[in-house]
Formats: sequence, structure tokens, C-alpha cells
Amino acid sequence: MAQLNKQRILLIIGGGIAAYKCLELIRRLRDHGASVRCVMTRAAQQFVTPLSVGALSNERVLTDLFDLDDEREIGHIRLSRDADLIVVAPATADLLAKMAGGHAADLATAVLMATDKAILVAPAMNPLMWSHAATRRNVALLQADGIHFVGPNAGEMAERGEAGVGRMAEPAEILAAIAAQLAGRVIAGALAGRRVLVTAGPTHEPIDPVRYIVNRSSGKQGYAIAAAAAALGADVTLVSGPVGLADPSGVRVVRVETAAQMLAATTAALPADLAIFAAAVADWRVANAADEKIKKGAKAPLPKLDLVENPDILKTIAHLPPSQRPSLVIGFAAETENVIEHARKKRKSKGCDWIVANDVSPETGIMGGNRNTVHIVTADGVEDWPEMDKDKVAEALVARAAAHLAATTGKA
Ligand code: CTP
Repeated sequence: MAQLNKQRILLIIGGGIAAYKCLELIRRLRDHGASVRCVMTRAAQQFVTPLSVGALSNERVLTDLFDLDDEREIGHIRLSRDADLIVVAPATADLLAKMAGGHAADLATAVLMATDKAILVAPAMNPLMWSHAATRRNVALLQADGIHFVGPNAGEMAERGEAGVGRMAEPAEILAAIAAQLAGRVIAGALAGRRVLVTAGPTHEPIDPVRYIVNRSSGKQGYAIAAAAAALGADVTLVSGPVGLADPSGVRVVRVETAAQMLAATTAALPADLAIFAAAVADWRVANAADEKIKKGAKAPLPKLDLVENPDILKTIAHLPPSQRPSLVIGFAAETENVIEHARKKRKSKGCDWIVANDVSPETGIMGGNRNTVHIVTADGVEDWPEMDKDKVAEALVARAAAHLAATTGKA
């Protein structure tokens, strides 16, 4: 996870049994090149010792707001500003309540009040505490304040026989959420001078002048990607199938209807440095589409549709010779089962560099909804990103792509 390298994480450890998982989190963060400074609440010290946290983080652990040495050396104001990201794990019901209420009586809460940096919290508590009306209120307040959440998960609690939603996210999930947060920070102008091509929405394949074949697709994720790339200074062409969305500002939008038109418009928009294929292209078109509306009648036989396969736009662009192929080609894989396995195969069969995989089975509510849970499949492995708004997924993806282009193509 390149986005963790040289990043400074301030980890605030709250007082819960899950605090022991922070030791693993600290180790993994450092393995990826991040530095970790830890603040422990008084309650946290009942579960893990500052000694073990200090040994793993290789930094002095801070516990007291009124420790004169600490204040002279670092000071809680600087502590909160020096970090690239603040992570609160485990975030107990009490700590969430204090954050929502703006308390600042100890070092952990004072740091959280004094910061202008992004905050990611990993709640952990008994399921009844998580579902309590007070916690619901506090979580809603914190989300409205722009605080990011990872977990909690459903499962067994530390207490025997207790199960439900309240388990802290696993260290690997928190790590992925941290990486996604850091990748999502908008680096102004990171794509200036770059040409970006995005496909979005469904295609309509006519049966006759009034009927067509279509895939389910709102186009929201692709439009958010085009907007995020433009916000980073890119010259963006969005080739869009029929959707009910307004043009993102600063983006050149080419509207098409069929897969054949989408392929032609996409090819015409080259060259590009980065191409992201978020469209839900219909796999087949009707070979014998009627010029006039097909009439139904008691005597008329049921119409037969001859289907032919549509061109694969992503595959076509990914297999262009190096002089014409965008440096980074990213496809999407909308799957309803075995998400990662299918996505890995799709990355290879399509010849693209990354696949953004998501589970679009109806119960996820992703299709047409505003949130998305994605996995980024690259040649190096799989990154599981936490559930985020489609806008945030777009920002994180585009920032990740910008960093990759900067690292691989030499241009800033
Ligand atoms: N894609 C494309 N042109 C097509 C079909 C798909 O450009 N004719 C792109 C999509 O935009 C997406 C990726 O290929 O980035 C994968 O799309 P998906 O619908 O998940 O896969 P399919 O190739 O259609 O495979 P299957 O339906 O068998 O899962």
C-alpha cells in the first residue's frame, strides 16, 4: 500500500477489550512505511500497557494532557496537526459521546477537538450499546461532522454468549480504510496536464424504434469519477450512455446510446493517460432490430430476437499498441458472487491494469444507491476499501491513479 509510506498516523486508543488489536494495527502500519504515534486514554491502559504500545510504535506513548514534559516537547495542539490522519480505535460508546459533545478534558479528546485533520474511527462496543438511541444520535452527529467510520462488524463479542453488531473491524480492514482515506486526500492539481477518459452509464441496444435492451446502471459512479478527475486538474472526456444525470462541471461529455457508438466515441477521445471504464455496456445487441415498431397481434408470431455480441470497449482499448494505449487502464467488475475471484480473472482476460470490483447483488443496494464497497485488484494483490459514498470512492480511486501515474510515468 504505497499510500501509507511516510504517512504520519496519530492513533488514539480507547478503553475497550479490542484495544489489543491495535498492537497488530501498529505493526502493520509500520510494515507499510507509516509512522505511528499513540495516545492512550486512561481506560485504554487497563487493557494494554503503554509499554507494549510504545515498543511496537517505537515512539513515546502519550497519556496525559497535563504532562509538562510532553506539553513542552510536543503539545497537544501540535500533536493534532502533525498527523496526516487521526485514527480512533477502539472508539468506545463513551469516546464517541465525548467526541459528539465536543468534550476536551483529557489528552485524547483535546487532540480530537484541536485538529484540522481527517479522523477515522473504528467503533467497538456491546451490540446493545451500539444500537442504543444515544449512540445512534452521536454517530449521526459525527458523520454529519465529516468523521469517517470503519466497522463495527457483526459477530461474537468478548463476553460469552453475546453476539451482534459491535465488534471492532479487523486490523486489515482498518488498515485498508486508512489507506483509502490517505489516497482520497485531494492533492490539488495532481492530474494537471493529464488526459482522462471515463465511460459511464448503460448502453441502449434497440429492438425497434421504441424498445431496447439495457443493463441496470445509474451512471453515478462514473460521473463521480469524471468530476473527481476534473477536480484534480485533468482534461476529462466522459463518454456516457443514457442517464438522468447533469454534466459534471469542467468535463467534456459525449452522449451515446449504443455500445458501438460508445466504442467509437471512446476511441475518438484518445490519446489519454488514464482510462476508467465504469459503463455497464450491454453485452449483446439485436442483429435484426426492426426499423418500424414491432406490432403484437393475436395472429402474429412472437418476435424472435437474434442477438450478437457487442464489442468489448475496455478489452479493445487495453489491447491497443503501447503507443496508443493509456498508461493506466482501469475496469470495473460488477459481480453478484465470488467477487474477488471473478475480478482477478476479469483483470487478466480484459488486459487492464486494475479492476475495481464490487458486489452488486440486490441486498447490497449498490445499484442505483449512493454508497459503494469496492476492492481494488491489481497485479500486486487486492485492497479492500471500506463502504464509502460513491463520491468518496471516486476521489480515492482518482487520487490513487494520480499517484500511480506520477510514480510510473515520471511526469508530476
Ligand atoms: N466493458 C466494456 N465493454 C463491454 C463489456 C464490458 O467496456 N462490451 C467493461 C465495463 O465497463 C467494465 C468491465 O468491462 O469496466 C467489466 O464489465 P462487466 O459487465 O463486469 O463484465 P463483462 O465483460 O460484461 O463480463 P460478465 O458479464 O460475463 O461478467
